[in-house]
Amino acid sequence: MSPRLVPVESDSTGRRDRPLRITVDGEPADGVEGQTVAGVLLVSGRLAWREGPSGAGRGVFCGIGVCFDCLVTVNGDRDVRACRRRAVDGDVVHTQSRARTGLCPGTPGTQAASRAEAQAGPQTGEGE
Ligand code: FES
Repeated sequence: MSPRLVPVESDSTGRRDRPLRITVDGEPADGVEGQTVAGVLLVSGRLAWREGPSGAGRGVFCGIGVCFDCLVTVNGDRDVRACRRRAVDGDVVHTQSRARTGLCPGTPGTQAASRAEAQAGPQTGEGE
């Protein structure tokens, strides 16, 4: 997916752009009616807007709603695929993070859980 918008005057389809504005983590992002939230994010220069479990940035990967890499919160609805959701003027978008550093110590499989287990010492399995 290309992070650019073809100017209306050079688009042979005869489209008419109606501008819209959304906010992304409180920052305005401009787009045109018909664009997806991901399209507006890309045109505004954002290539990654979510953190995966490793903390690495995620954005559009498949662009067709299959990979779930582009998840955002839109108007309070979590886990919305930005590549599938049409942007509407006034939408309030928040980025999401699944980085493991912020999870509670008891979450299995996380570094925080490993540290908590190491601090607790060896477990005997008795009395549990
Ligand atoms: S980019 Fe793959 S689901 Fe949106």
